[in-house]
Amino acid sequence: MIVGVIGSGTMGAGIAQVAATAGNKVLLFDSNPEALQQGKVNLERILSRLVEKGKYPEEKKTAILSHIDYIENLREIATADLVIEAIVENAEIKKEVFKKIESLVNDECIIASNTSSLSIASLASALKRPERFIGIHFFNPAPLMKLVEIVPAIQTGAGVTQCAKEVIDRWGKVTVMAKDTPGFIVNRVARPFYGEAIRIYEEGIANAATIDWAMKAIGGFRMGPFELMDFIGHDVNYTVSETVFKAFFYDPRYKPSFTQKRLVEAGYLGRKSGKGFYNYENPETNPVPEEDLEPGKKIMQRIVVRIINEAADARYLNIATKEDIDLAMTAGVNYPKGPLTWADEWGVSHCVNILDDLYQKYREGQYRCTVLLRKMAETDERFFN
Ligand SMILES: NC(=O)c1ccc[n+]([C@@H]2O[C@H](COP(=O)([O-])OP(=O)(O)OC[C@H]3O[C@@H](n4cnc5c(N)ncnc54)[C@H](O)[C@@H]3O)[C@@H](O)[C@H]2O)c1
Repeated sequence: MIVGVIGSGTMGAGIAQVAATAGNKVLLFDSNPEALQQGKVNLERILSRLVEKGKYPEEKKTAILSHIDYIENLREIATADLVIEAIVENAEIKKEVFKKIESLVNDECIIASNTSSLSIASLASALKRPERFIGIHFFNPAPLMKLVEIVPAIQTGAGVTQCAKEVIDRWGKVTVMAKDTPGFIVNRVARPFYGEAIRIYEEGIANAATIDWAMKAIGGFRMGPFELMDFIGHDVNYTVSETVFKAFFYDPRYKPSFTQKRLVEAGYLGRKSGKGFYNYENPETNPVPEEDLEPGKKIMQRIVVRIINEAADARYLNIATKEDIDLAMTAGVNYPKGPLTWADEWGVSHCVNILDDLYQKYREGQYRCTVLLRKMAETDERFFN
């Protein structure tokens, strides 16, 4: 199979590596020749490191690199069977590129976008044959993250969806099917991990270090929300929050926070700028966690119950199957448990009670319990047996 990858930045280079490692011929294009060269240098460095660590024999590195052609003229994409686009997150620029690609490739070629936040239907509408278009959403870093969300648009042909899923499965990825809605599965269900943590911090209930401690030590998460936001970068994380909020027609459940906006405005972007919620240049000034079990449990419960509510609502609105929702959150962002499995463990009625208590106290939309949890609590149902 010949795979075209458009954009040789963070995601494009990673996707090219995954496709080449699976034995496909890859045509990697970038409109900026320097970025293309940089993509090549980065890939060679990554593969050399894997050889040094003993993970790959030298021949494997050579074989993978020999599978990739770095093309400087988009016309060379003509022979591709599948093209995955990973360029700048701008709908108009992407649409122009899709039109150009469609004019070059054959009729059977599937054209896909790795977009995190744009509607697949709107991107597909740029094509003469929108049924050949689909969302194939990898996570960063693409070679390491197992999950890929497959997102058909309302225009996408059933055969195209099936074929895209089979190809990505063959590449050794864990695929889940998601409806073309803002944030797909992961970036929707994960919003409260950040949003509710910041809210607790803003209310002065606990400092960032205490909330991080509670989520790790009691909740079992690998990283706390503040550590993770600092790691991702507040510019990136805030943009996702704002985009999802707008795309949901300003539903208060997805409301971004002023605290994070101010960090972005100040240039406190997290690790990469030396300062975010934590100070990486003068770590001695950082807050220390107050490791009290009972308040810690309450903090963890408040954040996790909102994630459960979001996951249950996604299920209620047919964004994905219950299995795929839990799989996406465990394989995609390494949650210690799928949120719906968590709901079963806590008891759906208990989750409803926590949400109702929060709603009673705050009267704010983000604590509104989804109809699905309420219905399940009435009949004592579980998500899984
Ligand atoms: N970075 C992430 O964590 C992440 C995760 C999942 C999905 N995505 C999505 O993947 C896409 C790419 O993100 P990224 O982080 O790799 O960006 P990036 O900035 O690292 O790379 C984008 C590349 O596209 C090139 N480019 C820009 N316009 C182009 C054009 N018209 N034709 C060809 N090449 C062009 C740029 O030169 C650059 O090399 C975006 O749609 C983003 O939403 C990003």
